Amino acid sequence: MKSIFKIHDERRQGEALVKEKTKSVENSANFDRKFYIESYGCAMNFNDSEIVASIMAKEGFGLTDKLEEADLVFVNTCAIREKAEDTVRKRLEKYNAVKREKNPSMKVGVLGCMAERLKTKLLEEEHIVDLVAGPDAYKDLPNLVREIDDGRDAINVILSKDETYGDISPVRLQSNGVTAFVSITRGCDNMCTFCVVPFTRGRERSRAPESIVREVNDLAAKGYKEITLLGQNVDSYLWYGGGLKKDFKKATAEQKANAVNFADLLEMVAIAQPKMRIRFSTSNPQDMTMDVVDTMAKHENICKYIHLPVQSGSNKILKAMNRQHTREEYFELIDNIRKRIPDCAISFDMMTGFSGETEEDHEQTLDLMRRVKYDFGYMFAYSERPGTQAARKMKDDVPEKVKKRRLSEVIELQQKYSKYNTEKYVGKTVEVLIEKESKKSDQEWSGRNTQNAMVVFPKENYKVGDFVNVEILDCTTATLIGKAVGYSKNN
Ligand code: SAH
Ligand code: F3S
Repeated sequence: MKSIFKIHDERRQGEALVKEKTKSVENSANFDRKFYIESYGCAMNFNDSEIVASIMAKEGFGLTDKLEEADLVFVNTCAIREKAEDTVRKRLEKYNAVKREKNPSMKVGVLGCMAERLKTKLLEEEHIVDLVAGPDAYKDLPNLVREIDDGRDAINVILSKDETYGDISPVRLQSNGVTAFVSITRGCDNMCTFCVVPFTRGRERSRAPESIVREVNDLAAKGYKEITLLGQNVDSYLWYGGGLKKDFKKATAEQKANAVNFADLLEMVAIAQPKMRIRFSTSNPQDMTMDVVDTMAKHENICKYIHLPVQSGSNKILKAMNRQHTREEYFELIDNIRKRIPDCAISFDMMTGFSGETEEDHEQTLDLMRRVKYDFGYMFAYSERPGTQAARKMKDDVPEKVKKRRLSEVIELQQKYSKYNTEKYVGKTVEVLIEKESKKSDQEWSGRNTQNAMVVFPKENYKVGDFVNVEILDCTTATLIGKAVGYSKNN
């Protein structure tokens, strides 16, 4: 096993800010040609790159982490905010320089959401680009690569009606051998007015439960200890034999009777691998049911953590965003979650400066945060995306300076609650799954507790993949610092 990669892990749960190229790959010397892949954006993009690696391996392409020696370079892109696209454009400039100076025969493919959004424009605007493939087109990559081999530009941005990749076993790229992502739904039907995802990832469809459970069993057999079920909106998962979620109403009576929803799926996975930790992301509050919360409460191996993006604390703004709940309904959901699972951690996404947001709306956002006291969160300034409802019908009327000021107020307030929440653990003992070496010290392990809080502690004789009980002695806003007191009963 040759380790050929470095890991750039800026990953977060939920809308992950991922920048990733990498991992060790067995026998890469046996492949005829080499490809390089870099991923940006959410966890699903990560997982998609693993699917791409699997498809490319079958085509005789081995992975490399060196641009200079790659025959083919893929960048799996994000389009969620303008900044994400700017980052990719900068990377394309870098590839251009490498091609010019060191690797003239190198070909470049753009994958993912930016490919889907810009389509042929990418080929026109960025001369370095030879291939464009949207998120549902990866099975077509072998054909697209043959086209560019023949000297033509290649493009496939067709979106699918089915969960496209259920039968592909992803090559785990960034793997620590302990935690893995498993995609369960693709696309999104929610049409939040600010969001580009429904345009880039298409309509919502779910993957067959058997295929999901098979992948989870396979990961368990390979020694994985934790999986995260992924989707833009996991609580909306619905399997009735295939097809788009919106066509469920046309399903037969038998299909409807046998349909599997997210609570059912969660239970199936929890029972199939009772020793495996199960996480999921992301939950749109409007689609989260008490059945899901009850299933979480019932199974110890389902982690006590929910990422519950809210975007704004103002009912007026929630409505303008086409979020299908009010702040009062959101509070009710959180109260119910905390009643059923008192120690459940809750995180959020928040956006400042959406069209029409006044100081009063912003104050409502701060007030919502004061009430909920989230464990942590991801906060963004609104970035208008071409083609969305908001871009077409609303004015991006909050000045950039104001968006940024509100954002810093939101971030500052959250830091207070993050600290408040990590401090609650000091003096307690928590179960941690060891994932990797701590970034700060090679003498320490790092892992997470069930609530998704990061924990670091001296290595002693423990190893990656162990479940250990750690007594928490100290904390920062984002990290718990402790000392292991033995293996946990799950080990
Ligand atoms: N359901 C998805 C949400 C994807 S977008 C998920 O699985 O996470 C992730 C977050 O990015 C959103 O919750 C929102 O807070 C933020 N976001 C989406 N569109 C945005 C935009 N146009 N400008 C700024 N932030 C945005
Ligand atoms: Fe985007 Fe709303 Fe779906 S944020 S991904 S349209 S739930």
